[in-house]
Amino acid sequence: MEAKVTAHARYTIADIDKRLYGSFLEHLGRAVYTGIYEPDHPSADENGMRRDVIELVQSLDTPVCRYPGGNFVSAYNWEDGIGPRESRPTRLDLAWRTAESNHVGVHEFADWAKAAGTDMMLAVNLGSRGLDAARNFVEYVNHPGGSHWSDLRRKNGRADPWNVKLWCLGNEMDGPWQVGHKTASEYGHLANETAKAIRAFDDKLELVVCGSSHSDMPTYPQWEATVLDETYDQVDYISLHMYFENYEKRTSEYLALPQKLDRYIGTVAGVIDYVKAKKRSKKDVKISFDEWNVWYHERKSDAKRMKEWDWPHAPVLLEDIYNFEDVLQVGCILNTFIRRSDVVRIACIAQLVNVIAPIMTEPGGKAWRQTIYYPFQLASRNGRGVALHLDVDCPSYNADVAADVPYLDIAGVHDADAGTVTFFAINRHGEEAMSIDLSLERFGTPRSVEHTLIKHDDLEAKNTRDNPDAVKPVKADGARLSGETLQLSVPPYSYSMIKVT
Ligand code: AHR
Repeated sequence: MEAKVTAHARYTIADIDKRLYGSFLEHLGRAVYTGIYEPDHPSADENGMRRDVIELVQSLDTPVCRYPGGNFVSAYNWEDGIGPRESRPTRLDLAWRTAESNHVGVHEFADWAKAAGTDMMLAVNLGSRGLDAARNFVEYVNHPGGSHWSDLRRKNGRADPWNVKLWCLGNEMDGPWQVGHKTASEYGHLANETAKAIRAFDDKLELVVCGSSHSDMPTYPQWEATVLDETYDQVDYISLHMYFENYEKRTSEYLALPQKLDRYIGTVAGVIDYVKAKKRSKKDVKISFDEWNVWYHERKSDAKRMKEWDWPHAPVLLEDIYNFEDVLQVGCILNTFIRRSDVVRIACIAQLVNVIAPIMTEPGGKAWRQTIYYPFQLASRNGRGVALHLDVDCPSYNADVAADVPYLDIAGVHDADAGTVTFFAINRHGEEAMSIDLSLERFGTPRSVEHTLIKHDDLEAKNTRDNPDAVKPVKADGARLSGETLQLSVPPYSYSMIKVT
């Protein structure tokens, strides 16, 4: 099979916001407890945080991390997580039917985020609580001192404000499963009033309002229209979520799902434009795709187990073990975000540790990289710069979810400072290699090319504690430069990063 791809230095989509490679950590299962925090672990730092995990997160280079939820935030009292640990209450977490010790709160997360090299993106509870708790939380986190909440922060050991810039106005408020679920107009009104109060404190903050939990929600896309109608002037981003499933184990259908993601983004971009025009506004609202990942491996059995258990603390929950097929999916998802980076400015892989995560830990023991760690890491570390509008000519197939799905999924990024053009390419064909002919126009004469390949003959291959390197990137050879043309062949069902310098 053959593909012809043309990239031109002037045919660009957008400057990629580095927060496209954001992440998410929720008080859920073992994400926090025995995930990032385990004071008795041999690698624990002075704050009880696992250094082995911090190193794996550093190496992902994720510029922002959303916290503390997710569904958890909709019944969370942020004040429970401050002050001396011994006086913090244990609460029942209604989202996941677990007990929350509150041993980790905003101070501990802030220290961890600094160590891991990521900025905080905080969510306020607009489910069980509202405007007042939200504005107090913002004051606690961001005001220098001389007020009740900022002085309490100082008393609790943190003199300087953290100056968190990015705030989420609740989580998935369209979902009937959400504690304090609301209609679009109820939520839109509350989000707008909360945003106004937060802006009265600091009008430079960036605020994210909840869009749909997924594009099959019955309220989609009217939800976006109503919520933006209420909040357009006060918010900067609308949040979207999507999880990818392959219950039927049909690889070609599964790998076509990013076409649905693309339609979802396009539709919401249209709704944003509609509300902007309706309001005669000059301001732009963008998309924060702040939850995305593969999530199906353990989903049904988890839902069953949860119903039966007796409020455990930090149980095994949502611990999907990813396979090689999921590498291809994560690669296609990230490519979609790069191609839509004019409107998707922020995206967060959900989640970061243990819970549907690229990083896994064993309590008291090892930490290791799941298969999906690698496509995320390669994109995060190499996909910074300007997204390129590529002209792609290749064979395609028809899937139930979309027609004309190109066998080659490819995105390109030009980093002019580093003098590199990097392509991320997934061959969606299961039997045939793809011979790619890539024309590089007006980038200057390329001098060298590096091809990094992730390939396994078994789509079900997994990385485990005892076999952590079953699926990982290797250096490939065979990519040939000739003038401004690059030629290479990528194997069936494979992920490639091609970097031209
Ligand atoms: O990431 C797991 C859950 O998925 C989050 O808590 C929620 O926001 C979404 O439904």
